[in-house]
Amino acid sequence: MASSTALICDSEAWKDLKGHVEDIKKTHLRDLMSDANRCESMMVEIDGLLLDYSRQSATVETMDKLLNLAKAAQLTEKISRMYRGEHINSTENRSVLHVALRAPKDAVIKADGKNVVPEVWNVLDKIKEFSEKVRSGSWVGATGKPLKDVIAIGIGGSFLGPLFVHTAIQTDPEALECAKGRQLRFLANIDPVDVARNINGLNPETTLVVVVSKTFTTAETMLNARTLREWITAALGASAVAKHMVAVSTNLALVEKFGIDPNNAFAFWDWVGGRYSVCSAVGVLPLSLQYGFSVVEKFLQGASSIDQHFLSTPFEKNIPVLLGLLSVWNVSFLGYPARAILPYSQALEKFAPHIQQVSMESNGKGVSIDGLPLPFETGEIDFGEPGTNGQHSFYQLIHQGRVIPCDFIGIVKSQQPVYLKGEVVSNHDELMSNFFAQPDALAYGKTPEQLQKENVSENLIPHKTFSGNRPSLSLLLPELNAYSVGQLLAIYEHRVAVQGFVWGINSFDQWGVELGKVLATQVRKQLHSSRTQGTDLEGFNFSTTTLLKRYLQ
Ligand code: F6P
Repeated sequence: MASSTALICDSEAWKDLKGHVEDIKKTHLRDLMSDANRCESMMVEIDGLLLDYSRQSATVETMDKLLNLAKAAQLTEKISRMYRGEHINSTENRSVLHVALRAPKDAVIKADGKNVVPEVWNVLDKIKEFSEKVRSGSWVGATGKPLKDVIAIGIGGSFLGPLFVHTAIQTDPEALECAKGRQLRFLANIDPVDVARNINGLNPETTLVVVVSKTFTTAETMLNARTLREWITAALGASAVAKHMVAVSTNLALVEKFGIDPNNAFAFWDWVGGRYSVCSAVGVLPLSLQYGFSVVEKFLQGASSIDQHFLSTPFEKNIPVLLGLLSVWNVSFLGYPARAILPYSQALEKFAPHIQQVSMESNGKGVSIDGLPLPFETGEIDFGEPGTNGQHSFYQLIHQGRVIPCDFIGIVKSQQPVYLKGEVVSNHDELMSNFFAQPDALAYGKTPEQLQKENVSENLIPHKTFSGNRPSLSLLLPELNAYSVGQLLAIYEHRVAVQGFVWGINSFDQWGVELGKVLATQVRKQLHSSRTQGTDLEGFNFSTTTLLKRYLQ
């Protein structure tokens, strides 16, 4: 592109792809899938993890054009600027260095001229030591009892990533063994029901509360932290906070002000975005308390292996780059506004909610990184459910309604295999039969001619016809353990970055969440004065005033 303020849609590469759309729209996936050479060229493997994108509405020519688009967007330079610690989050004047959180000890990654890897490892070593003390029972609560249960308080990026990883590994045999006798719970919502559910059945004497907040100002997290502080001190006295509450934050001054001993605070840095923070103490501390540091270290290593792959693999074989480019193709050229994330794995039930934040908070933007209004849409609506549950819910729309590109994620080896005597296949094979069948059902569909041959009555033929030609991709992981969960996380994080780099937006700020917070502050103030002094509501429109009055009655 000519200058930093040029929009990618003005590039020749973008226009070339626009022109190519009609060719692709004429082509059915049924025909594309019959070309074995094309399909073979659309498979990429790393570390046993296989990506098959042959069911995307794309030809070899499309891929060449997308690689040209990557060039026009200066993707290589943008990726290396990220790894070099340049302030690519320009609206907040920050580096974007979540890759440093999982870098090996001897790596050198600089932010503002300083190698941050030693600081990262200081905190990791501190987590290792602390979690070992808690897990071994040498760190005890106020009444001398070991702390076997943990409630991690946090919301958004201080919650979704850790919950996803916890849910994904909790039935992995190794992690399961390490977590014996321990519980990890997550308190996110300010709804008091969430507090009640979290403390239900727990004893403050044996509970450790981890307050996780990058800013340590988030209204929901701080009120939940005060609520659990009250739960602990009411039962055990004010001094119990020192033994029962620890914190993870970039704002250590506020941690201390809250009453948590700075020695019991685990730092991270402003070059870690909230939604990219699961590999910092945000995730590593609660997960190490539950599973032990050595399990969590494998998760970091898995993520790091993808960081290396992303940085050094040519784009034609670079999984996050290919996925990112295909998403841009689907959104900006084929006009598909959504993406379904469909893991055939119950352990990945919290993956889609996590990726929703990573993707939608990152790429749901209306202006370019230079502040120019964008004449095209960015981001996509991410949603998903594990298969096969989703099949019995929203797949109808995906098969015969709107076209929604799907990510199918499957696992070769189950964490918890079950083989029943007399059954045709194992339970995992039954699950995976669906994983293999659905992408072809979407791609090929079913024609009226096929239905006629099956003697389907004429009046039902339109209802039973599947147009097909619905794109998907398949990711097949050898197994789901801490390492591969790290890989999966990093693939999706980098894919989102690739999309943002190509669209020319800032994927690392989130100004769009601020306005609602400001308005909630105004409501909070007036709820307070109305309840305590009976003052009239002021400054709201008719609708909000009516609703508030009803609420206050
Ligand atoms: O409201 C959105 C957000 O700012 C997210 O970006 C962030 O992950 C979340 O709130 C929580 O923020 P914090 O970790 O500072 O409490």
